[in-house]
Amino acid sequence: MKDTLTIVDNATGKSIELPIRHGTLGPPAVDIGRLYHDLGYVTYDPGFIATASCRSAITYIDGDIGVLLYRGYPIEQLAEKSNFLEVAHLLLYGDLATQTQLDEFTGVIRRHTMLKESLKSFYSGFYHDAHPMAIMVGVVGSLSAFYHDSTDIHNPQHRDIAAHRLIAKMPTIAAASYKHSIGEPFIYPNNNLSYCGNLLHMMFSVPCEEYHVDPLAEKALDLIFTLHADHEQNASTSTVRLAGSSSANPFACVSSGITALWGPAHGGANEAVLRMLEEIGDVKNISKYLARAKDKKDTFRLMGFGHRVYKNHDPRARIIRQMCHEVLQKLGNTNDPLFELALRLEEAALKDDYFIARKLYPNVDFYSGIIYKALGIPTNMFTVMFAVARTVGWVAQWMEMIAEPDQRIGRPRQVYDGIATRDYVSIEKRT
Ligand code: ACO
Repeated sequence: MKDTLTIVDNATGKSIELPIRHGTLGPPAVDIGRLYHDLGYVTYDPGFIATASCRSAITYIDGDIGVLLYRGYPIEQLAEKSNFLEVAHLLLYGDLATQTQLDEFTGVIRRHTMLKESLKSFYSGFYHDAHPMAIMVGVVGSLSAFYHDSTDIHNPQHRDIAAHRLIAKMPTIAAASYKHSIGEPFIYPNNNLSYCGNLLHMMFSVPCEEYHVDPLAEKALDLIFTLHADHEQNASTSTVRLAGSSSANPFACVSSGITALWGPAHGGANEAVLRMLEEIGDVKNISKYLARAKDKKDTFRLMGFGHRVYKNHDPRARIIRQMCHEVLQKLGNTNDPLFELALRLEEAALKDDYFIARKLYPNVDFYSGIIYKALGIPTNMFTVMFAVARTVGWVAQWMEMIAEPDQRIGRPRQVYDGIATRDYVSIEKRT
């Protein structure tokens, strides 16, 4: 197999042999590191359509056939047999944990759930109607101010402690954002509960009443979190890596990931799905909105449909779809017309030539939003839930990057198409 790609510059007749890098799976990559040095060219690839930004051994996606692997394990097997914290250990450390390793890891994550009391006062600085994602960005970004003992990124132990703290405290921070928005007291974590059980407890219990975690809600949340734990070099993960490449502390990096996740083209899609369903309002309006989604002059898109990488079924959507139906049957208010509308919209889009031709299938967030709604989680918390789960992936990818011996600051080039050099004009001479 030829392991180089020859580029010939027709203008000068110079050529260059660029090495080809092979991963264990996926298309080969042309290493263009010498292109600028030898031929004076940079590459242009807005949206990173054909650009691998790093090497990674964590997650693999084959979007053409709808495959997702965490550390080589198919997502279907993990969804059926594993759970979120075991998957977190797998993503962080590379292998399935032994019982002892898992007990130790779970114990550490359970013990680090509390927030410093003074950190809690940050919340009162936010207006009651602040979006919980805005609160998350601020509170997570502030963590480095509280944990100086875990910000030396060159110390593997510090990296581990920071990773554990981030994963463990995220549900507490998320639940407190919600409690603040509804004016209820913050609920302390109960470390006897599971990761997801604890999150439900901190969101929905009140100090004056007993609260029992619903096992189906806990199971559904654990599945959603497992499916959302990592997704290779998506926008938020790339943001975390780019921020981390400047040696910023992990708390700041994860906070930057939360901001990137927020947009409706990424993690904000689950919230956008529900808002879209509310806007459509009734099954009789489906055809009108499908027509709008297909009209290029209209900015309306079918939220929860399409994916940059999956041009086939999103494997996570297949798994979560089943859970969605189970949750709707057992927990959802079956009279809620929104659920019926979601199912009918899914059916109509899957039969529509526009969506078939462009390989636009429902993605994981089409269903996660519906499950969250059935679990009683408010719409503005949907992306926060995603952020809690994806923290594992962000941290795993950040740790992998920092541990690389030849890690350098990320610094893309550009094609400048502004005005070429001109002279300063004094203000009285400007027209
Ligand atoms: N509704 C209507 N048309 C769509 C949609 C949609 N949701 N998604 C893509 N298309 C059309 C595009 O208009 C384009 O049509 P054309 O070929 O006639 O010009 C074609 O499908 C290809 O779409 P692109 O925009 O080129 O795809 P891209 O990879 O850039 O975008 C994205 C992917 C952002 C996910 C897009 O499909 C989208 O906006 N979907 C809705 C938002 C969403 O659900 N995001 C969640 C993604 S999953 C996640 O982050 C966890």
